[in-house]
Amino acid sequence: MGIKSYLKEKRTLVDSFLKSYFNAPAAPSILYEAMNYSLFAGGKRIRPILALASYETCGGNPEDIIPHASALELIHTYSLIHDDLPAMDNDDMRRGKPTNHRVFGEAMAILAGDALLTEAFFMIADCGLRNVELKKSKIRNPNSAILRVIREIAMAAGAHGMVGGQVQDLLSEDSEPDRASLSFIHKHKTAALITASVRIGAILADSNKTTLRAITRYGENVGLAFQVIDDILDIEGNTAEIGKTTGSDERKKKMTYPGLYGLEMSRKKADELVSEAIYALKDFSERAEPLREIAKYLLRRRS
Ligand code: IPE
Ligand code: IPE
Ligand code: MG
Ligand code: MG
Ligand code: MG
Repeated sequence: MGIKSYLKEKRTLVDSFLKSYFNAPAAPSILYEAMNYSLFAGGKRIRPILALASYETCGGNPEDIIPHASALELIHTYSLIHDDLPAMDNDDMRRGKPTNHRVFGEAMAILAGDALLTEAFFMIADCGLRNVELKKSKIRNPNSAILRVIREIAMAAGAHGMVGGQVQDLLSEDSEPDRASLSFIHKHKTAALITASVRIGAILADSNKTTLRAITRYGENVGLAFQVIDDILDIEGNTAEIGKTTGSDERKKKMTYPGLYGLEMSRKKADELVSEAIYALKDFSERAEPLREIAKYLLRRRS
């Protein structure tokens, strides 16, 4: 199967699960409208897909861990809603549509983000426990695996990870770029959650330490490459393809890879990171092919 079809197939799995999960909105309905608006605006679902591909690489059947993988998308979507707020990047377009606060107002956008973040942990705990009770869980040692997954995602999303990176991103606006701050920002705001995505696949497959280490190295490199490419697309991308207004980083005087190294060096850096990610999987069989192909696809992505 080509990588395009693989991504499409996995995206459909995640989307169908999310659709059925959110099919009975509770009151107040405006909150669910705001959550659904951003969640189903057309994201690539790359974090859940990475979790599924990693689980598959480590010997599992991706269908076993759809709730765990999908929870990553709730956290990611919350981070985008908040990232776009006037107090943060002040952006008007996301996933090809007006940003959440433009449609629902700032207060509702903040609360929709809060609700998505919290729901992510409920989703993992609830689906996991229900499967254990019904003896339907295909995951080995499900109770301890669920706890490890929750710890993993919480670390990557909070102060030690994404939120920490977002804070440094804001503090560094307008300042002279330097390698250490730039690396801190990108590793925390983006690479942390991407690394956690592949790690939870390996954790749920009950992988040994050597496997988990290799998967982690893959995730760190792909995660950093992902943000370098995002920075490049903010300059070179096409609004219709990326679904957001280009030039946002320049406008906000963000610390970015092209800002410090220039476009050509940044492309080279992304290439090297992807090669490093693929090298980390050198001891894996053809089961790791989707992870290798996703890494290469990220270099070519236009959206
Ligand atoms: C955008 O993420 C924000 C970053 C962390 C770079 P994606 O490029 O994965 O956005 P969607 O989910 O496809 O909209
Ligand atoms: C995103 O960084 C980091 C997040 C955790 C959301 P950016 O601010 O560059 O993401 P985009 O370009 O708005 O998607
Ligand atoms: Mg930002
Ligand atoms: Mg932004
Ligand atoms: Mg960006």
